[in-house]
Amino acid sequence: MATDDDQHVPAGGATALDGGPDNPRRRDYLSIGAVAFAGVGAGVIALPLINQMSPAADTLALSTTEIDLSAIEPGQAIKATFRKQPLFVRNLTPKEIAEADAVPLSELRDPQTLEERTKTGKANWLITLGVCTHLGCVPLGAGEGENKGPFGGYFCPCHGSAYDTAGRIRSGPAPQNLHVPEYAFTSDTVVTVG
Ligand code: FES
Repeated sequence: MATDDDQHVPAGGATALDGGPDNPRRRDYLSIGAVAFAGVGAGVIALPLINQMSPAADTLALSTTEIDLSAIEPGQAIKATFRKQPLFVRNLTPKEIAEADAVPLSELRDPQTLEERTKTGKANWLITLGVCTHLGCVPLGAGEGENKGPFGGYFCPCHGSAYDTAGRIRSGPAPQNLHVPEYAFTSDTVVTVG
C-alpha cells in the first residue's frame, strides 16, 4: 500500500538519499521494478503462443466435416459440428418427405421445396445447421425423444419457432428456414460438409 514515504522515490531510480543497497527503501524499489519487468516479459511471450493456438479465420472457413451416414436409420437424426456450429443430419422417412412435398410454397415464409434443400436422388437426407434463424438457439428435434414441434421437424425452445420436416420455418419469430450448408456426397453413405 502506498505511503507518503513511497511518493518520494523517484521514477528514475535511486538517489543519494537512498544511502546504498542496504537501505530498506531502496530494496523495495528494486524488487518492485523486477516484478514489473517480469510481468511485461510474460505478456510479450504469451501473446504469440495464444495467437498460434487459435486457428486463423481463413483456416476455419476452409475446414470441412466428414459424416458417415450409414448408421442413421430412417426417422433418425444426429447432431454433429461444422465450423464450431451445430449441424443436424436427418434421414427422413417416406411419410416425412410426403408431408414436406404436400405443403404449397404459398404457405411458406421462406419458400423452398424439399428438393431444393437436398441433393438430387437423396431427398431423404436433410442436412442443415442446427441454429435457429431467429436469435441463434439450438432447436430441439434431432436428439432421441426431443420435441419436434407442431410441424414434425424442429422446435426452438427459446421463443417457439417451429420448423417442418424440410427444416423450413412454419411458425414463430424465425425469419428463415434452417440454413443448408455446402456439402457433397463422396460415396453413398459419406458426405463432406463445407
Ligand atoms: Fe429460436 Fe428465438 S432463437 S425462436
